[in-house]
Amino acid sequence: MMSGGLNHRRVEVMQETASYTPKPAKQWSLRRTAEYVMREQRIFFVLLGVVITSVFFLVLQPAYRHDESSGAYLGGEELYNVEAKFGSVRAFEKAPYRMQQSAVISPGGKIPLGLQRKALRIVVTGGAGFVGSHLVDRLIERGDSVIVVDNFFTGRKENVQHHFGNPRFEMIRHDVVEPLMLEVDQIYHLACPASPVHYKFNPVKTIKTNVVGTLNMLGLAKRIGARFLLTSTSEVYGDPLEHPQKETYWGNVNPIGVRSCYDEGKRTAETLAMDYHRGAGVQVRIARIFNTYGPRMCIDDGRVVSNFVAQALRKEPMTVYGDGKQTRSFQYVADLVEGLMRLMDGEHVGPFNLGNPGEFTMLELAEVVKEVIDPSATIEYKENTSDDPHKRKPDISKAKELLGWEPKVPLKEGLPKMVEDFRKRIFGDHEEEKETLNE
Ligand SMILES: NC(=O)c1ccc[n+]([C@@H]2O[C@H](COP(=O)([O-])OP(=O)(O)OC[C@H]3O[C@@H](n4cnc5c(N)ncnc54)[C@H](O)[C@@H]3O)[C@@H](O)[C@H]2O)c1
Repeated sequence: MMSGGLNHRRVEVMQETASYTPKPAKQWSLRRTAEYVMREQRIFFVLLGVVITSVFFLVLQPAYRHDESSGAYLGGEELYNVEAKFGSVRAFEKAPYRMQQSAVISPGGKIPLGLQRKALRIVVTGGAGFVGSHLVDRLIERGDSVIVVDNFFTGRKENVQHHFGNPRFEMIRHDVVEPLMLEVDQIYHLACPASPVHYKFNPVKTIKTNVVGTLNMLGLAKRIGARFLLTSTSEVYGDPLEHPQKETYWGNVNPIGVRSCYDEGKRTAETLAMDYHRGAGVQVRIARIFNTYGPRMCIDDGRVVSNFVAQALRKEPMTVYGDGKQTRSFQYVADLVEGLMRLMDGEHVGPFNLGNPGEFTMLELAEVVKEVIDPSATIEYKENTSDDPHKRKPDISKAKELLGWEPKVPLKEGLPKMVEDFRKRIFGDHEEEKETLNE
C-alpha cells in the first residue's frame, strides 16, 4: 500500500514537471535593478573598465590637438616632431612631402582616433591654372584628397609641383571636352581659359570647353552623386546697364561679338548647371567671379593687372586702352578661394558674386602699380578693344549675408605679393635667357 502511494506521488511530481509554465514576468523596479548591479561586484568591474579605457586613451595614446590655423588634427608625438622641425603646423604643411613624412613618423605607429573631419575626395578641373592651383593648396592644407584635371592650355605644372609625391594629390592630363569617370565627393569646375588673349585664341574651342566640358562634368556629378561648383564670371553681365551688378541682373551681352565665346559660353554653362539641378537633382553651386589677381597669374595674358605689373617691371610703358576711365574691381586670389570653398560647403546654390567692390579706374590702378614697383613708370594709350565693358563692380551683399564672406585683402596689400612672384618669374626667365646666350 505504502509503496503504491509513493509511486503514485512520483508520477504526480513527474507530470507537474512535464507541464512547465513560465513564471509570471516580474514588474521592473529600481530597487531590484540596483540590487542586481551591486550583486557579485558587478559595479566594481564596470568601473574598472571605465578606468582602463580612460588610461588607454588619455595617457597611453597621444592627446590629439586641433590646430586652429590649419584645421588639422595631429597626435601629441607627431605634433612634437612637426613643431620641432618646422616651427608650426602651417609651415609643415607647406614643406615637401618627403620632409613631412620624416617628421611625422610615429615610432608607436599609433592610429589617429578619428577626431579629424571626414576628408573629401575632390576634383579640381583647371587645377593647374592661376585660381585652381591656389584652391588646390587650400584643399590639400585642409586634409582633402585632390585630383587635378587639366589640359595645360594655360595652366602650368609648376603651379602645383610642390604637391608632387603627396599621396593625397593626383594630376591627370585630360581635356574636359572628353568624358571622364572618377569617384569623388565634390567637383570644382574651373577648366576654361579666362583671359581675353587665351579665350580668343581659339574661340570655338572656348565654347566647346564651356558647353561640352561643363556637360561632361555635370554628367559625372549626376552619375556619382557629387556636388558641383561652376566658376562663372562677371562677364555674364556683359557691358552692364545696372551698376553695381546684383545677381538678379540679367546682363547686357553681345551674342555675336569677339568676346561672346567666353561670355555666352559661361552663360550657357550656368544654364546647364541650373537644368541639371532642377531636372536631375544635382547639387550645384554657381560663383560669378570678378577680376582676380595674385601670384601665378599668366604673365602677358592681356589682363590689366598682369599687363601693368609685367610692363612696369620690364621698364616698359603701361598700356591703357581707351581713355583709362573704365573701372574694374580687383580681388586678391586668397579672398576668392575662401569664397569658393564657403560656397561649395554651404547650402546655397547661388549664383553668388565673388569680387572686391573697391572700384578703380585703369588710371588709378596704374598709379598703384607705379607706387609699388616704379614711380617713374610711364603710360601709353591705345585704342580700346570692342565690347570692353565700361564699368564693373560687384554687389556682394548676397555673399555677405548667406555665405558670411567678404574680401579682406586690399589692393595695396595684395599687389606686392603678386609683384614678388612676377619679379622672380620674369627676371628668372631673363637670367636663363642670358645664360643661354652666353653659352
Ligand atoms: N581670374 C579671374 O579673374 C577670373 C574671373 C572670372 C572668372 N574666372 C574663371 O575662373 C576659372 C579659372 O580662371 P583662372 O584665372 O585660373 O584661369 P587660368 O587660365 O589660369 O586657368 C584655367 C585652367 O583651365 C585649364 N583648361 C582650359 N581649358 C581646358 C580644357 N578644355 N580641359 C582641361 N583643362 C582646361 C587651363 O590649362 C588652366 O589650367 C575659369 O573658369 C575662369 O573663367 C576667373
